[in-house]
Amino acid sequence: MKLIELYAKMKKDISYIEKQLERSIDTDHALLREASVHLLKAGGKRIRPVFVLLGAKFGTYDLERIKHVAVPLELIHMASLVHDDVIDDAMTRRGQLTVRSKWDNRIAMYTGDYIFAKALLVATKLENPEIHKILSKAILEMSIGEMEQIRFFFNSEQTVRDYMLRIRRKTALLIAISCQLGAIAAGASENISNRLYSFGYNVGMAFQVRDDLLDLCGTEKEIGKPPGSDIRQGNITIPVIFALREPELRPMLLTELKRIQEADGQTDISRFIELIRGSAGIKQAEELANRYIDKAISVLQGLPDIQAKKDLIGVAHFIGNRSY
Ligand code: IPE
Ligand code: IPE
Ligand code: MG
Ligand code: MG
Repeated sequence: MKLIELYAKMKKDISYIEKQLERSIDTDHALLREASVHLLKAGGKRIRPVFVLLGAKFGTYDLERIKHVAVPLELIHMASLVHDDVIDDAMTRRGQLTVRSKWDNRIAMYTGDYIFAKALLVATKLENPEIHKILSKAILEMSIGEMEQIRFFFNSEQTVRDYMLRIRRKTALLIAISCQLGAIAAGASENISNRLYSFGYNVGMAFQVRDDLLDLCGTEKEIGKPPGSDIRQGNITIPVIFALREPELRPMLLTELKRIQEADGQTDISRFIELIRGSAGIKQAEELANRYIDKAISVLQGLPDIQAKKDLIGVAHFIGNRSY
């Protein structure tokens, strides 16, 4: 099943969450409202709320309750993107100007803070401290992941493990808790919510590996921003880490990396991209993503055979092959 077919099936609930998202960021403060609405209206896959809804199908599905975790999860994601674009000096996101380029970095920092705070506020509608704790911890881990990314900029000695630890924090955990909190908010058993967490974690790892592949192999139209943004910033991702292991490629890549770093990313990166695309790193990264998807699907085996399980498998396959 294609993602679009799955979304069509859940259309009513997804539109309802969308309306709640709009309401959640509404404020009398014109600038905060404009900046937040700008990002919301730019689109996005809304994959985290979709995971919440599917996770909730394993318990007592009550949208009025579940929305209090579906909305915060998309808001946390959105806030992290506003901040991420400041760190990355990104001009476009979701095919539109970023908040930092339409306004400026200061406005982006406060817009991000505002959206983070709104996320936590919505979650307080559920009087369940465990949920609040899980959400706050995810924000905390994301901050560490993003800090680690900065620490490793242009570091050609970093290992696969360094990369894994980083993407686990910056991406995979938020997807893991989306699946888990859907189940918890719906009152599913701990066994179920733990399994869903593990599914989301594995899917989330694959999600970031695919994102990093797309940055190197995708087109601007597909990814909504110019390809090669990661390396301009100094972010050495898994296909590059793998390619650096190839003895005949390594010296050429190191020369390119040095040149890009010295130019502060403001240089022609086509040679670098060409070297990576021609390396075995691409295939190895694809295989890594596929292994995570297989693991995610196998974790689902212990769950009841309901339609949501098939849908989760469908989303996992989409993520394993995604081109946007
Ligand atoms: C982008 O996430 C940031 C990553 C964690 C890789 P998405 O690919 O989910 O972004 P949108 O919400 O669809 O724009
Ligand atoms: C994901 O990483 C960002 C966060 C988890 C905050 P990326 O830096 O790869 O995301 P994109 O590529 O800018 O969307
Ligand atoms: Mg980024
Ligand atoms: Mg990226």
